[in-house]
Amino acid sequence: MHKHYTGLIERYKDRLPVSATTRIISLNEGNTPMIQLQNIPRMLGKDVDIYVKFEGLNPTGSFKDRGMTMAVTKAVEAGSQAIICASTGNTSASAAAYAARAGIKAFVLIPDGKIALGKLAQTLMYNATIIQINGNFDQGMELVKEVANHAPVTIVNSINPFRLEGQKTAAFEIVDDLGFAPDYHCLPVGNAGNISAYWKGYKEYATDRVCGNRPVMCGYQAAGAAPFIAGHPIENPETLATAIRIGNPQSWDFAWAAQQESGGWFDKFTDAEILVAQKMLSQYEGVFCEPASATSLAGAMQDIQSGKIPEGSKIVCTLTGNGIKDPEIAMQQCAESKPVTIDADLDSVKRAILDSL
Ligand code: F0G
Repeated sequence: MHKHYTGLIERYKDRLPVSATTRIISLNEGNTPMIQLQNIPRMLGKDVDIYVKFEGLNPTGSFKDRGMTMAVTKAVEAGSQAIICASTGNTSASAAAYAARAGIKAFVLIPDGKIALGKLAQTLMYNATIIQINGNFDQGMELVKEVANHAPVTIVNSINPFRLEGQKTAAFEIVDDLGFAPDYHCLPVGNAGNISAYWKGYKEYATDRVCGNRPVMCGYQAAGAAPFIAGHPIENPETLATAIRIGNPQSWDFAWAAQQESGGWFDKFTDAEILVAQKMLSQYEGVFCEPASATSLAGAMQDIQSGKIPEGSKIVCTLTGNGIKDPEIAMQQCAESKPVTIDADLDSVKRAILDSL
């Protein structure tokens, strides 16, 4: 029988804190594709199965929609009229969209000049109140926590436990797709909510015997914003991958536990390495993710090449956000392949084609 897909809360409601009377605020998020990489494994010369979970195909273009459908559903259920978050861009876009859908207000604190253009445009279109601060994400996060004590606003950052509940469904989808959990799960780590949520999801499925195994969790950070590798928060995080420009992750303990319990590890990658991985995914696989997202593949490629992830492994990399969110980085990445401009006649077009065959 045909069943119209209506989002992840409906699909996984037995495993989420909702009741039969909860009004679900959804944009049909989740159900994102798992794409098996075909060319990159061959280029690595290793016998591995790499799948990317392309979260950039969520309604606002990032994995945040999974958490936001839950957080906003629960905020509305509790009677809240306004939500607030600090953000490096994706959380703000998602919060704004779900607030619009629910008919409530969204306030977002963003670091001035440090969020990708597409994310700013989205957030404006969804009609959130944008508060730019002369400070970074971590400072914004502290301010949000303080102001929520003084104003009637519900925080929808991942310190809101409903966010992680929604995000854990990505792990469910992966197991439901593959029929098993992968051997390794690689993902970028910023505020550390997502790695915590995936681990929660895998653990729940393993406990209930939906799958027999749990993956090793590999968390990868940008070199200039790598508190988990330093072993402590860092003061002035810097990276071109602005989504993960975070020095003081809020879900530190959960993420640390995920790494410990799964036998996993954290590592860091330079902006140059992250950009190489982003370009490779685009040009060799046709998958365009934002820079932060490509950190997962940068990590997987390194650890496959070194043998830390052995041959025969099944690996999932989460691609957290869509590449079109950050057109400025994309244009910089392709500065040397500028379009040619020619006269509008057949000969010129023919020459342009023959010149680049
Ligand atoms: N990738 C992207 C594209 C992100 O936007 C984020 C976080 C992460 C990875 C890291 O996930 O924080 O759960 O470890 N972005 C947040 C935001 C902080 O405000 O949009 P995390």
